[in-house]
Amino acid sequence: MLDYNIVLIGFMGTGKSTVASYLHSVYAMDMMEMDQEIERREQMSISDIFKIKGEAYFRRRETELLREVSGKNNIVISCGGGTPMREENVIEMKKNGRVVLLVADPETILERVRFSENRPLLQGKKNVEAIRELMEERRAKYEAAADIIVDTEKRSMERICREIIEKITGMDENHV
Ligand code: S3P
Repeated sequence: MLDYNIVLIGFMGTGKSTVASYLHSVYAMDMMEMDQEIERREQMSISDIFKIKGEAYFRRRETELLREVSGKNNIVISCGGGTPMREENVIEMKKNGRVVLLVADPETILERVRFSENRPLLQGKKNVEAIRELMEERRAKYEAAADIIVDTEKRSMERICREIIEKITGMDENHV
């Protein structure tokens, strides 16, 4: 039982939701997948929210949701890929969270998102160049928000999650 949250950030397709499910089931953490929670509350897919209500509306829902959970603990929070782009969101994440940046190569990301119909920002941009460009645009903000960085490339979920827990626990020891 952790007295803080683990906040997973990273580009689309870096494995945030899968890592969150694993930590939820193996490490007995509560879990919140932000996109799913927003879809549940809005009764609409992410694509429809972007289409009908607009991206700005979606971004406000993300910030609200983070504010709700930042006072709690032992939750693994899987953010949307764009969540750390807003400074106020990063402040919320850090209130009671250790922020973990998941990374993968654009080629791997393309394979993971190729058949996804629910990623409006990649509509018509499902190619390595476009993914690399958006990743580069975002890199500085991702890295500035991160407490630790974990590569999800070609490794088992078990190893990835063990590394996350070890690095995060190490952070605690370094704080003492
Ligand atoms: C977005 C990523 C998506 C979702 C929305 C916007 C982004 O989440 O929040 O489509 O701006 O990168 P995933 O990273 O879970 O795909």
